[in-house]
Amino acid sequence: MTIPRSKLPADARLDTLAVREGLPPSPWGENSEALFLTSSFVHPDAATAARRFAGEEEAFVYSRFGNPTVMMMERRLAALEGTEACIATASGMAAIMLTAMALLKAGDHVICSQSVFGSTIKLLAGEFGKFGVQTSFVPQTDPAAWRAALQPNTKLLFAETPSNPLTEICDIAALAEVAHGAGARLAVDNCFCSPALQRPAEFGADLVVHSGTKYLDGQGRVVAGAVCGPEALIEGQFVPVMRSAGMSLSPFNAWVVLKGLETLSIRMQAQSARALELARWLETQPQVERVYHPALASHPQHALAMRQQSGQGGAVVSFVVRGGRTGAFAVIDGTRVCSITANLGDTKTTITHPASTSHGRLTEAQRQAAGIVQGLVRVAVGLEDLEDLKADLLRGLATI
Ligand SMILES: Cc1ncc(COP(=O)(O)O)c(C=O)c1O
Repeated sequence: MTIPRSKLPADARLDTLAVREGLPPSPWGENSEALFLTSSFVHPDAATAARRFAGEEEAFVYSRFGNPTVMMMERRLAALEGTEACIATASGMAAIMLTAMALLKAGDHVICSQSVFGSTIKLLAGEFGKFGVQTSFVPQTDPAAWRAALQPNTKLLFAETPSNPLTEICDIAALAEVAHGAGARLAVDNCFCSPALQRPAEFGADLVVHSGTKYLDGQGRVVAGAVCGPEALIEGQFVPVMRSAGMSLSPFNAWVVLKGLETLSIRMQAQSARALELARWLETQPQVERVYHPALASHPQHALAMRQQSGQGGAVVSFVVRGGRTGAFAVIDGTRVCSITANLGDTKTTITHPASTSHGRLTEAQRQAAGIVQGLVRVAVGLEDLEDLKADLLRGLATI
């Protein structure tokens, strides 16, 4: 037995794949994908069970390393990212941990952007440091700095583009060239754009990492993650780690993300357009010192962002207000529509103070290196009426 694929034409386009890629329906013919809440699967006889456990016959065995609902999500996300395979994980951080566990051993070296999500810095420098993996942190936007950091034992380059919260863009193709020239792999955290706007594998990234918690779910319901990449690598090096280490995604959470993928493209377009309009408006506010959004002409990597991100900037806008932390807190506390939470990627607009939340565990030096100043506010724009969002921010801005 092999697990069948859906009956889509081979040339089905992205929007069709987002709604329909996965597995064929069960014998009951359900139209919406089934949620298989089962921990294990039953075999017809002992010999078949033995073959399946030995990997000689493809079948579902145990939901820690294989479940039909999870597989539907994996196939759909792989199709959207344009990669051969995908492995779902319990969270975005589990996806990064799985990537490191699958690719690295003691004595290996990683080059990582210094602008990545705070927990990624903690995980690589702290946790993997304990196991003898050394990580160098470099400026996200400077390929020469990445090249200069190469060592004979460099195995992995890790970038997040756009970065959280300053939306710094790295040149994926340039970093892929640096990595491949040194026999290393490039992994890109595509959380901020999602495959609806940016497909890092098209620019040469070997692995695409996701926090499914963000735009893939899209409505702030579940914590989830995934790694997309070549089948040989995922099957050969990632699945065995998952089988032993068990950072698997629950079928329920996979189902929520699977259904979220159906509206991903349309949400990303709408939320990006709102974010750009809000960013332009913020640029005109006297209390705002600086606005970060890749689609603004003032963004330092604007041209690169437009090339890499399907001409759109994503839905996250960060801005620095006068008055440091006091000013930032006034804006946040003035809101009545936005949710004060560090999560992003929701249809509900969220607002946060990165220096004391997502990046609060970093040292002041690490925060300075990442450019996270006390006056910085991050807004992840959802689907509310833009005029209500402007009024929401203006309430606090007017008091500065
Ligand atoms: C860019 C980025 N990568 C990874 C993560 C981690 O994802 P999760 O919270 O699903 O573990 C986050 C979480 O905020 C993030 O913003």
